[in-house]
Amino acid sequence: MRFPVWRVGVFIAAAVWPLFWLYEALMNSLGPDPGKVLVDRLGLGTLILLLITLSMTPLQKLTGWAGWIAVRRQLGLWCFTYVVLHLSGYAAFILGFDWSQLGVELSKRPYIIVGALGFLGLLALAVTSNRYSQRRLGVRWKKLHRLVYLILGLGLLHMLWIVRADLKEWSIYAFIGAVLLILRVPPVMRRIPRLLGRKVASATKA
Ligand code: HEM
Repeated sequence: MRFPVWRVGVFIAAAVWPLFWLYEALMNSLGPDPGKVLVDRLGLGTLILLLITLSMTPLQKLTGWAGWIAVRRQLGLWCFTYVVLHLSGYAAFILGFDWSQLGVELSKRPYIIVGALGFLGLLALAVTSNRYSQRRLGVRWKKLHRLVYLILGLGLLHMLWIVRADLKEWSIYAFIGAVLLILRVPPVMRRIPRLLGRKVASATKA
């Protein structure tokens, strides 16, 4: 396996947050509604991990370092783990496992439907993230995994619906998402390393 230390480092960096938040909850340092704080942090963690996962390919193209791609799948699976924890937190702390309330909840908080669609998308990507599915699906695998941009859009819409009054933080994530999307447009993707190469060359000349 290539980049073992880097891979383990990424594993630890992703695993440590939910454990730390759980510790904070057990220490009563998450305020009067720790369940809601946990759900919010895990939701935000999901979105951030999605953006980090999506930045691996552009970073590889920009730097030429294969280590970015070596951790891409792991990061995608962490994103899925966070969303499962986010959803479980919602079921436990907000719904109280009272499924009869789900109908009322969906009409009271329609953004949950958008989140649920995002979750189903992430589930499809996680289930097909292995080499076997990649081989079996062939070209369709790439098409399926382009769903990730739709999932990002759903995640951003889900968050926008929740934080409507305060758009500052949301705008940062939306901006990063838009930049990542633009970087994936093939002509842009092809041009960037060349542009960087030119810059580096002129800097050395100067
Ligand atoms: C079935 C799936 C989902 C359910 C039931 C769900 C539910 C929730 C709930 C109840 C909240 C807290 C709302 C509040 O503060 O009043 C929330 C917040 C959030 N969720 Fe989800 N969600 C789901 C999927 C997702 C997905 C797929 C993403 C990201 C890709 C996501 C990202 C977020 C974010 C960013 C927040 C806001 C956190 C904050 O305000 O700091 N959620 N979600």
